[in-house]
Amino acid sequence: MATHRLGIVMHGVTGRMGLNQHLRRSVAALRADGGVVLSNGDRVVPDPLLLGRDDAKLAAIAEETGDAYTTDYDAAIGSSEHRLFFDAGTTLMRSDLLGRAIETGKHVYCEKPLAAALADARTVSAQADRAGVKAGVVMDKLFLPGLIKLGALVSDGFFGRILSVRIDFGYWVFTGEGAPSNRPSWNYRQRDGGGIIFDMMAHWRYVLDRLIAPVRSVVCLGATHVDQRWDEAGTRYTADADDAAYAVLQLDGGVVAQVNSSWCTRVNRDDLAVFQVDGTQGSAVAGLTWCRTQSIDDTPRPVWNPDEPQAGQFRDQWTAYDPDRTYPNGFRAQWEQFIRHLYGDAPWPYTLREGVKGVELAEAALESSRRRAWVDLEGGGP
Ligand SMILES: NC(=O)c1ccc[n+]([C@@H]2O[C@H](COP(=O)([O-])OP(=O)(O)OC[C@H]3O[C@@H](n4cnc5c(N)ncnc54)[C@H](O)[C@@H]3O)[C@@H](O)[C@H]2O)c1
Repeated sequence: MATHRLGIVMHGVTGRMGLNQHLRRSVAALRADGGVVLSNGDRVVPDPLLLGRDDAKLAAIAEETGDAYTTDYDAAIGSSEHRLFFDAGTTLMRSDLLGRAIETGKHVYCEKPLAAALADARTVSAQADRAGVKAGVVMDKLFLPGLIKLGALVSDGFFGRILSVRIDFGYWVFTGEGAPSNRPSWNYRQRDGGGIIFDMMAHWRYVLDRLIAPVRSVVCLGATHVDQRWDEAGTRYTADADDAAYAVLQLDGGVVAQVNSSWCTRVNRDDLAVFQVDGTQGSAVAGLTWCRTQSIDDTPRPVWNPDEPQAGQFRDQWTAYDPDRTYPNGFRAQWEQFIRHLYGDAPWPYTLREGVKGVELAEAALESSRRRAWVDLEGGGP
């Protein structure tokens, strides 16, 4: 049984996602566990080259992981020692970097959104198809235990006919005044590719398309609730990107999804993101790790009586749905699947074409907000 070295140029590893989710929890963790074992018993051991602008930051990370690093973009992208290019850097550079990597024959894998504009997303996806390279976009929410459980209920037909979906996502993001913010400042500046619509619609597209039904139309109101924030250096700036999005989506089969995403709300629900699916035969609600159901047989008949408090707790009327299995870190699981796919050992549905759809929904939601109108996605209305 052979051991294969997989050279990966990793860009954006000085950032939150690149460092924590992709380098530490996925690539370095897989290597520490001896690599990815293929079905024929061969092992694939990732060997990253860390690429970025900041020599000192890269050196500190390389010290921790023992990897090589460089600030020379041309040399790294052109390197024949590395078959795969991965990007978790700023969204604004993504499609250009991927395009350059594909030109040199590299396979590519990247964070969402695939590009900062739909035209660029389509161009790079078509380029990957033409070059025949293997290519993928991170769709981590599909690997959340809560959504895996929800997906299993859909496959089992638990819901009967699915009627509607409600996604409630968000938490308070501090302005950065006096104490550091809990998100990067570029998220709140349009010119840097910020905005919650672009950030979150890229997720909601694949979640809804793959778990429930294809998204057909969107109406969305974006808002910039907090317009003054303080950056990483403590300097005040104008926050001109949307920091909340209130959307309604129509899906195939008449399913309606209400989707709220906000960085200006305080959590009074059971998780940072809560997903509820209502169907004729039952409903389920899921967070990041958990899922609870209420079948038609368990559905109460509440009585509206404003003179008396409710006798029971509605939340107690739900049943934990907890199949007996374990769930690896989702980013790591998707990396493992992509690496298997590179070696012809796993199916790969998370293609750049799928990534294009996330950017399509983001642009449609922005257009809807601007025009105060419904916008249909490619393939028409519902
Ligand atoms: N999958 C998810 O759940 C998820 C969550 C958050 C962010 N993201 C995506 O991950 C990407 C990074 O987001 P983040 O939150 O880690 O941001 P971050 O600000 O922490 O990291 C950004 C990275 O890009 C690099 N960068 C920024 N400007 C650059 C430039 N001009 N030249 C070279 N490098 C530059 C930074 O050095 C850093 O490495 C974004 O595309 C974002 O949409 C995905």
